[in-house]
Amino acid sequence: MAPLQLVAVFATTLIFMQTTANSQTCPDCFVHSRAAHYPNSEEKGTETGSCGFGTFGATINGGDVSAASDLFRNGLGCGACYQVRCTNSNYCSDKGVTVVITDQGAGDRTDFILSQQAFARMAQTTDAAASLLSLGVVDIEYRRVSCSYPDKNITIKIEESSDNPHYLAFVIWYQQGKRDITAVQLCETQNFVCKLLDRTRGAVWTTTSPPRGPLQIRMLLSDDDGDETWVIPVNNIPENWKSGDTYDSGIQVDA
Ligand SMILES: *[C@@H]1O[C@H](CO)[C@@H](O)[C@H](O)[C@H]1NC(C)=O
Repeated sequence: MAPLQLVAVFATTLIFMQTTANSQTCPDCFVHSRAAHYPNSEEKGTETGSCGFGTFGATINGGDVSAASDLFRNGLGCGACYQVRCTNSNYCSDKGVTVVITDQGAGDRTDFILSQQAFARMAQTTDAAASLLSLGVVDIEYRRVSCSYPDKNITIKIEESSDNPHYLAFVIWYQQGKRDITAVQLCETQNFVCKLLDRTRGAVWTTTSPPRGPLQIRMLLSDDDGDETWVIPVNNIPENWKSGDTYDSGIQVDA
């Protein structure tokens, strides 16, 4: 091949690669959208968020939380983390803020309704934060990132509505990494007979007539490429589990 032809082929390949990269799902690329903030006077999130996390959903990640519209994904999106940054260079920092999804909600063409604290955190300065908050809705770009809770293990919070031994409902706290919890199995710990649980609303997993004895809760973590891994906790839930209590799984997951 003549050198000129070679250059042409090379350039074409480059253009092709770039086009593919843009049109394919690009996990680390930012997506353009808009974000609003909660109207409540509370600077953190809401305790009544649709994920069913309760107070945890308002205060997790220091209160840097958000409601999501499409990204709520019928509850699957609960606990996922996103880096969100606004795009007005007069006010906004490059880094933006990392939020955890704990609620469902949509504003005027928004993907996120951030806690006021998280919204303000996208700004470069305190003054800029005040200006941002008064705008109410801003252009943003976002991407999914790993959730990180270095000092926490994945923790099972038994819902107040639970009634041992008739009804078990729980949410999973401190979901780490960038994968979704797409299924949960509840196993008795004698023969490890397991049953799949239902995600009844938000991030709440429930079952009537849970097995007796200590319980093992297994989580199926799935990523965008369809890779799936069952994660098995170190610690069981004790037989005398109580509504309102939390149980440390003894494990962390990354990536
Ligand atoms: C996490 O679980 C391990 C046991 O697997 C335990 O040693 C550690 O103290 C736990 N960490 C926290 C922060 O509770």
